[in-house]
Amino acid sequence: MVRAGVRAAPELAKLAIDETGFGVFEDKVAKNYLATEFLADYLRDKKSVGVVDEDVERNIVHVAEPIGVVLAITPVTNPTSTVLYKAIVAAKTRNAVLFRPSPFAVRSCERSVEILREAAEEAGMPRGALQVIPDAANEVTHYLFKHPDVDFIWVTGGPKIVALANSAGKPGLSVGQAVGQQAPELAARAGFSVPPTTKILLAPLPADLALLGEHPLVQEKLMPVLGLVRARSAQHSIAAAVLVTEHGGLGHTAAIYANDDDVVTAYGLAVRTGRILVNAPTAVGALGGVYNNLTPTFSLGCGTWGGSSTTENVNFKELLNIKTISHRRAPSQWFRVPANIFFNAGALENLRDIQCGSVVVVTDGPSQERGVVDQMRSKLRTSHVQVFSEVQPEPDEATIRRGVALLERAQPDLVVAVGGGSVIDAAKAMRVSYEHPEKNLEDLTLPFLDPRKRVADYPRDAHTVQLVAVPTTSGTGSEVSPAAVLTVGDRKETLVDYCLVPEVAIVDPLLTLSMPPSVTVDSGIDALTHALEAAVSIFASPYTDAYCVQSARVIFDALPKVFDDPGDLGARTDMANAATLAGLAFANAFVGTNHALAHAVGATFGIAHGRANAVFLPHVLRYNAGLPSKFMPAPGYSAYIAPDKYAQLGRVVFGGREPEESRRRLFQGVAELLDRLQMPRTLKAVGVAEDEFLEALPELAMNAFQDLSNRTNPRMPLVSEITDLLKLGYYGTDDQAVTAK
Ligand SMILES: NC(=O)c1ccc[n+]([C@@H]2O[C@H](COP(=O)([O-])OP(=O)(O)OC[C@H]3O[C@@H](n4cnc5c(N)ncnc54)[C@H](O)[C@@H]3O)[C@@H](O)[C@H]2O)c1
Ligand SMILES: [Fe+2]
Repeated sequence: MVRAGVRAAPELAKLAIDETGFGVFEDKVAKNYLATEFLADYLRDKKSVGVVDEDVERNIVHVAEPIGVVLAITPVTNPTSTVLYKAIVAAKTRNAVLFRPSPFAVRSCERSVEILREAAEEAGMPRGALQVIPDAANEVTHYLFKHPDVDFIWVTGGPKIVALANSAGKPGLSVGQAVGQQAPELAARAGFSVPPTTKILLAPLPADLALLGEHPLVQEKLMPVLGLVRARSAQHSIAAAVLVTEHGGLGHTAAIYANDDDVVTAYGLAVRTGRILVNAPTAVGALGGVYNNLTPTFSLGCGTWGGSSTTENVNFKELLNIKTISHRRAPSQWFRVPANIFFNAGALENLRDIQCGSVVVVTDGPSQERGVVDQMRSKLRTSHVQVFSEVQPEPDEATIRRGVALLERAQPDLVVAVGGGSVIDAAKAMRVSYEHPEKNLEDLTLPFLDPRKRVADYPRDAHTVQLVAVPTTSGTGSEVSPAAVLTVGDRKETLVDYCLVPEVAIVDPLLTLSMPPSVTVDSGIDALTHALEAAVSIFASPYTDAYCVQSARVIFDALPKVFDDPGDLGARTDMANAATLAGLAFANAFVGTNHALAHAVGATFGIAHGRANAVFLPHVLRYNAGLPSKFMPAPGYSAYIAPDKYAQLGRVVFGGREPEESRRRLFQGVAELLDRLQMPRTLKAVGVAEDEFLEALPELAMNAFQDLSNRTNPRMPLVSEITDLLKLGYYGTDDQAVTAK
């Protein structure tokens, strides 16, 4: 088709002029070349059939399908080049075309199609794929516009036909175009004469913008007459150009000749046209491929300004339905842990090896009174030690601010956090605020759906202050986790980022011997909850599973022992290690809805974190083992395996042959452990008044729903389900009453 078109370029140019009376022969020949040779050069390496593009990294394949039957309206102004161009583009994309030429250019269209059809059918194009419908009657056009077998309307024409096509209610592309008489003829009609070689008539127009706007020659002229405005400045000339485009040129093409890039940019920003040509002839330049790298076309999108759906130089892509085959993609996972973990009785000795010049010890009042700070002093290499001992359980922002003020005075190179989760969390938040005063905690607690895409902007640079975490409970796992839980108003907010992870964790069970029974039990159940939530998290991996299983197994064994005998160092050691193991698991898999519920009621009613976890644990286990009403969107989580994961863990700890049996034993093991530890099993038993609970319920449900911990729960909890779980937490269940004390 291209070859036939190139050979026929002069014949078709002559025919167009003879039939329409418009244009210049040589120009038309050039345009016919553009519509064939230039177009073919552009299309040569473009794929338009089958798989046309593949994005291996994103695992996406693009497949091209033809649109079907294209109704092509062609203009009087480029009556052959537009036909050549549309027919070749349709063949490239395997579409059939019905040509509907301007009534003044029917012969041009028919002859062009005849030449193309012969070549195309010889090359294998199905018969009838290129047709001309010459009947000039408007009704024929209307009929075709509405015809159910016409899939696409592709109009090149004046505003009337564009408007009509746009109202046909079919997908389509409509672009405007131009009508010419030669300059000497125009001059003669205007009553003056010019030499016969004159190409263009220049008409001086008023520089005053108001007068310019009213001048008849400001309109689209469709003939070789150019208006000339002498502008006072670049700014003035841009304003004049904008005014001219607003009078009939919107969306099409504008051009500027300038050497000053700032002027070019200002012009480009100001005029509302689809193409802005710089230092290039406008008519041929806009068609692309000759003076610039624009896509060659005879279909210039005029954007919404001109009633088109595009501002592009329309080419083959617009005639394709591109299907995107997108493969599921599970992003890679991670397992990140602190650089150093020292454990077992006497691990605190490792403090001696840590380089430091100036140290701040972060702790709470009771711990300082127990002499913990003195223990640290005796092992630290420096005597420059200051103490911040104001941390309260479930620390709040005011405490963090006071701590940061102390860090600013002390300028430490090492912070040692010694205490329970509250102390370690406070120290994490203090360090990040001290190192980055420009970050505020509120922004850092912004919720997210996927931690990899989160909006919250945590620091990425290296720490200037080292953090050593020494837990005295067993425990939160905060010594190895990227989380810090703070109380903000009446809510608990979680900071999560690996920049919060301490560089060193020292897990010395000797420090836990002094825990009173309530703290032992509360923090022990917190650790168990971490293991059981991380086990079914959507981010669970073989790496975290290993830690969950071992940690849960040890806790079921050792927690009753430390409850019975707080001085049992062996069991204390097991608990200390198990809590850190659970910490390593949830540091990477994170927790779930149990924690969301515990955070909500803990903050509202001042209930210790582990105790709040205990109240919900049996209910959340059962909830996650059920059939989800809503799944958590998670690419790496392909089937709902929470019930199986419970069964696997239950089997390791409690045996059982069938999955159901192992799962049942696990759930029963949890209930029995809670009873054995004399844990209150309901919020009612914890001492929350019913009317207060019911009054707080809607807000509790919303707070729990918004809690970050839900993000990794295998089931996406509905607010109504959270409300039910909260009620279960308050009232308990009948079968639970049997086992509860
Ligand atoms: N960052 C995390 O990854 C993470 C995980 C779970 C929980 N948490 C948070 O941790 C906090 C709870 O921490 P926790 O359970 O360790 O309790 P805690 O730090 O609040 O301490 C509870 C009480 O026990 C006392 N205590 C601690 N150790 C003691 C010891 N050895 N002897 C005597 N008394 C001792 C404390 O002084 C305090 O009065 C909550 O704010 C919770 O939200 C954080
Ligand atoms: Fe916890």
